[in-house]
Amino acid sequence: MNVLIAGANGKIGRRLIPHLAADNLQVRAMVRDASQAESLRQLGAHEVVEADLEQDCRHALEGQDIVIFTAGSGPHTGPEKTIDVDQNGAISLIDQAKETGVGRFIMVSSMRADNPESGPEKLRHYFVAKGKADEHLRTSGLNYTIVRPGRLTEEPPTETVTLAPRLDNFGDISREDVALVLAETARRDLPDSEFDVITGNTPVRDALDSL
Ligand SMILES: NC(=O)c1ccc[n+]([C@@H]2O[C@H](COP(=O)([O-])OP(=O)(O)OC[C@H]3O[C@@H](n4cnc5c(N)ncnc54)[C@H](OP(=O)(O)O)[C@@H]3O)[C@@H](O)[C@H]2O)c1
Repeated sequence: MNVLIAGANGKIGRRLIPHLAADNLQVRAMVRDASQAESLRQLGAHEVVEADLEQDCRHALEGQDIVIFTAGSGPHTGPEKTIDVDQNGAISLIDQAKETGVGRFIMVSSMRADNPESGPEKLRHYFVAKGKADEHLRTSGLNYTIVRPGRLTEEPPTETVTLAPRLDNFGDISREDVALVLAETARRDLPDSEFDVITGNTPVRDALDSL
């Protein structure tokens, strides 16, 4: 099974690669900067491909069974870049995935993307952008999983989470645990699905079983 990670050199992407490689998935890491290739290969990526979400990515998608989108413009760019990358870059990748015959798309979204009004004003554009990309994925015809983590931290993994189609309380989750959730999601044949996830007390596998 071939998996493309968009955002492979990001903080979640780098943590995800070893899990997927350990499952014998063929990981293709998508980067904008070729100098990142060697360290991603060392983490377990079988292939590294240069592509930018703001440009044509079909060469990166050819031959892939699953796309995991964990890219993002990050907190240091303005709202325009959020729309260019997190919204339009994601939407374009979904369309190109469909075109190139990818079967499945796993999206790292964000809690509150399905209800931007519930978030703080200064982050609203981000939740709206993520929400629009998620909505495009829902109607794309691709098999999809939308993973909506709470606020990301650099804490060590707990391997336990609280996960549900919609959580009432916002919370934190470590990037390590998000990587575990993504790897476990990729392992499963899930029907179209979406969920919020924060740190909690349920082992990741049991939490996904309960979906
Ligand atoms: N921060 C939070 O609290 C939070 C909460 C919920 C969800 N999320 C979501 O979690 C995901 C990943 O988080 P993270 O901490 O791993 O982010 P990160 O470390 O900032 O990684 C983002 C990655 O996206 C890549 N990227 C940016 N623009 C791109 C483009 N135009 N084309 C291709 N790749 C591009 C970056 O590449 P370069 O290495 O070239 O810069 C980087 O590797 C994002 O989707 C984010 O929206 C974040």
